[in-house]
Parts: sequence; C-alpha cells; structure tokens
Amino acid sequence: MRGIVRGVLAALVALAVSGVAWGAELPPPRMEGGMGLFEAFKKRASVPGGDFPTGKLELEELSTILWAASGLNRGERGWTVPMARGLAPYCKVYVAEDVGIFLYDWRTHSLKEISKENVRAKVGAQSFVKMAPCILIVVADGEGLAEFDEPDRAEFANVAAGAMTQDIYLAAAALGVGTRYIHSMRVDEIQRALGLPEGDRPICLMMLGK
Ligand SMILES: Cc1cc2nc3c(=O)[nH]c(=O)nc-3n(C[C@H](O)[C@H](O)[C@H](O)COP(=O)(O)O)c2cc1C
Repeated sequence: MRGIVRGVLAALVALAVSGVAWGAELPPPRMEGGMGLFEAFKKRASVPGGDFPTGKLELEELSTILWAASGLNRGERGWTVPMARGLAPYCKVYVAEDVGIFLYDWRTHSLKEISKENVRAKVGAQSFVKMAPCILIVVADGEGLAEFDEPDRAEFANVAAGAMTQDIYLAAAALGVGTRYIHSMRVDEIQRALGLPEGDRPICLMMLGK
C-alpha cells in the first residue's frame, strides 16, 4: 500500500516538474456545455496579429481545439470534419510550443513529440506570429492523399484545411481563446523543422493564445 502511495506521489511530482504531460494522451476534449454554437458564430474572429495575447492555453483547451480540428466524434471512422470518400483525415495538425513540436494523433487523441525545438519564431513570415504561445501547423498529408490525382489532391486538402480551421475558430471562440489564420509561412523552415516527406505540404498556421 505504501509503495502504491509512493508511486502515485512520484508520478504527481514528475507531472508538476514537467508542467504538462506533453507526448502523452491528452485530457478528454470538452464535448458538452459551454457556449452555444450560434453564440460562437457571433464571436468568431481573428485576433489582430500585433495585439495577439501571449498567455498559454490549458492542456484541456488545446485538447478541445485539436479534437474540433480533426478528432473522432462517432466510432472509429467518424470525424468532426468531412473528408472526401470518408477517408481518415488527410491533413495533419502539428503543435509548435516553446517546449517543442508535436503531432496530433486523432486515433489516440494524443500528441507525439517530433522534436524539442522551439520553432515559433521561425514558421511565420510575419514577425508577430511568434507572439502566439501555441501555433498549430496544418499540413496536407501526401500519403493520405495518394489515391487522388491533381487537381483533386490539392483541392481536397485545401477544403479539409478550411473545415478544420473554421472548427478551430469556433472552438477557440467558445473557449475564449484567441486565434488567427496565417497563410504567410516560411515553408522551408516548416518542412525542415517537422521533417516532412516530399509529398507533404504545409497549408496554414493557426495562432493560439489567451
Ligand atoms: C486564406 C486566408 C489566409 C490568411 N492569411 C493571413 C496571413 O497570412 N496573415 C494574417 O495576418 N492574416 C491572415 N488571414 C486572416 C485574415 O486576414 C482575416 O481572417 C481577415 O482579416 C478577416 O478577419 P476575421 O477573421 O476577424 O473576420 C488569412 C485568412 C484566410 C482565410
């Protein structure tokens, strides 16, 4: 019994020291209560880049925003966003924070560490982008899109990114989190930092902060 208590205490201390449980399963997303959809439509807006809030998100808020972007919402083959032919999401979401870069895995609703690099100051072409404590990077997944030919491949990825980013806008509005869609990116830096294979294509960034 004492051993169990000691183990639990050690785990709690480890969590407190590391801050957030990055790379582990995310806390469950918020799926009920909160602001109504129509209120969120009224609140949806881009926060001006120059005034972007620099406060960090709670892990629960990030969890909810990632789930809104491309999480499972019914069984094992139903997602919060529509995909052509009902395929699994063929746009990936990376999370860039000061502690590193992570890939959102919708299958397990978890974050997988990609690197410990802080790339927040390198991914945007506009200097204010680095003010966001959290930057989502939406990337077309070449492998997931392989069964489509051009121009469908690019078009379907862009449509998916549009649905995903609108969900991010609405979830952020409902949570009181600031966000902004960014197209002006440093694509080479993103490809390098994320180690993207040739067929993958960065589509946009979403700044997040409170
Ligand atoms: C496709 C697209 C590209 C955008 N690219 C940028 C960008 O590179 N930099 C930026 O500061 N804002 C960018 N924005 C944000 C728009 O400037 C913003 O949505 C617009 O001013 C309308 O404001 P609202 O979202 O509050 O309605 C982009 C928005 C969209 C939809």
